[in-house]
Amino acid sequence: MTTPIAIVRTVDDLRQRVAKWRKAGETIALVPTMGALHEGHLSLLTLAKSRADHVVVSIFVNPIQFGPREDFNLYPRDEAGDLAKLGKAGADLVFAPETAEMYPQGFSTHVGVGDLTEDLCGASRPNHFDGVATVVAKLLMQCSPDIAMFGEKDYQQLLVIKRLVRDLNVPVEIVGGPIVREKDGLALSSRNAYLSPSERKTAPLLYQTISAVAADLAQGRGCDDAVVAARFKLDAAGFRVDYVAVRDPDTLKRLSGPVKRARVLAAAYLGKTRLIDNVPVPPKK
Ligand code: PAJ
Repeated sequence: MTTPIAIVRTVDDLRQRVAKWRKAGETIALVPTMGALHEGHLSLLTLAKSRADHVVVSIFVNPIQFGPREDFNLYPRDEAGDLAKLGKAGADLVFAPETAEMYPQGFSTHVGVGDLTEDLCGASRPNHFDGVATVVAKLLMQCSPDIAMFGEKDYQQLLVIKRLVRDLNVPVEIVGGPIVREKDGLALSSRNAYLSPSERKTAPLLYQTISAVAADLAQGRGCDDAVVAARFKLDAAGFRVDYVAVRDPDTLKRLSGPVKRARVLAAAYLGKTRLIDNVPVPPKK
């Protein structure tokens, strides 16, 4: 039997709980999520537990990071299931606010991170990263953790958060966690639930294709050639490619020709489902 996990829904309650730990000289980690938790999220919890005395997990499907034609209403929600998983995995506290607690009437302040957010996912999802940056800035101020964990699965998001924290002098360490994958290589994602059985069979090709790009680049092939070949492979398999890109791993600046160190990033639709993934160059052994 695991003890039922404590859940708070207001910023005041969250602050009171955290203040008690702080007064006792204990450290706090925050793991922000939108729920529908899977092993990828839980890996961040495990990492957080190894780095802090207490772990707060936030669950909030943030409306302002979804575009008008995106899946906000459809986004999977399973609070009871999430609480059971977090209790078992040993989180100390869940912060699950209502929308009105996060965005009360008259809310009008937004955080924009600029150049890092302009292309890749930012190009096809305008305002998405401003929505992410705004909610994460709020969560960091509401919880004031010592560290906060984000997955490399959303690589551009991780860099955006690091930049936000640096630029605004937020006193928190941002820690990136490795991507957790299915056995066949597909990166775990709450959105994988949308895939039909036949799309699910095709989906691992995204990871295989960008891994092949990373291997080719490590052999000295030029970025542009490798990217064209990858797009061709994905198109032929039925993906609608949004982008395949080879970028500087710290700044996301464009690279060309042969490269020594880079990140290969891709986003592609299978039917209505948008999948994203990324791998390092040189590839991890
Ligand atoms: P969400 O998609 O729920 O993801 C929460 C965290 O889990 C993010 O840091 C994400 O990168 C990480 N994550 C997701 N899949 C993962 C995987 N397969 N392996 C490792 N980590 C993984 O990302 C968001 O929510 C939101 O944008 C949020 C930061 C909470 C702001 O609303």
